[in-house]
Amino acid sequence: MSRLKLGVLGSGAGSNMQSIVDAIDRGELDADIKLVLADVPDAKILDRARRHGIPCAYLDCAPFRTKLEGPAEDRCIELLKGAGVDTVVLAGFMRIVKTKLLAAFPERVINIHPALLPAFPGVHSWTQALDYGCKVAGVTVHFVDAGTDSGPILVQKCVKVEENDTPESLHARIQVQEHIAYPEALRIIARGNYRIEGRRVKIG
Ligand code: GAR
Repeated sequence: MSRLKLGVLGSGAGSNMQSIVDAIDRGELDADIKLVLADVPDAKILDRARRHGIPCAYLDCAPFRTKLEGPAEDRCIELLKGAGVDTVVLAGFMRIVKTKLLAAFPERVINIHPALLPAFPGVHSWTQALDYGCKVAGVTVHFVDAGTDSGPILVQKCVKVEENDTPESLHARIQVQEHIAYPEALRIIARGNYRIEGRRVKIG
């Protein structure tokens, strides 16, 4: 397989993007990040990209607040294609992506979600897990389909919920696992030794 050409979409701190940069730098992932786009103008993920010399830009997603659609979606596809991206990595991108982007990168849009899907899709999943009384929480990396947090699963990692956990402490331990899970999932894609059969991703 050829070296992955990644386009990263984010909204926040960009620690997951950092874990991908670090895995590439350590020679553990055969990929380059070609472009980083953020829907928040002062998102830290853009600072991180600049620090690493990765091309990046703010993507104005108005008039929508929770989805990527319309002119912004067209612009996003244009920018990603223009940068030569072949795999789109959602790294804390807090918007629903729609079918046009998915059609532009078939089976090549990947998301990380801070829960053991299908439990707790949506936002603040670690708080949902804590409030529900779960003994185990975790992280899921999955292919994106037209639903919300619903595509075929590539990698999952478990995190034990401790008696004295707060939402913050649990999310912090989930993030440690995220930073292992995302490079691991992208390594599977880079090696190309997987196939998607219905909901199941068969590896090897
Ligand atoms: C991560 O915990 C990620 O799983 C979550 O946002 C955080 C982004 O952190 N994503 C979602 O909740 C998507 N539904 P980061 O900006 O430091 O990578």
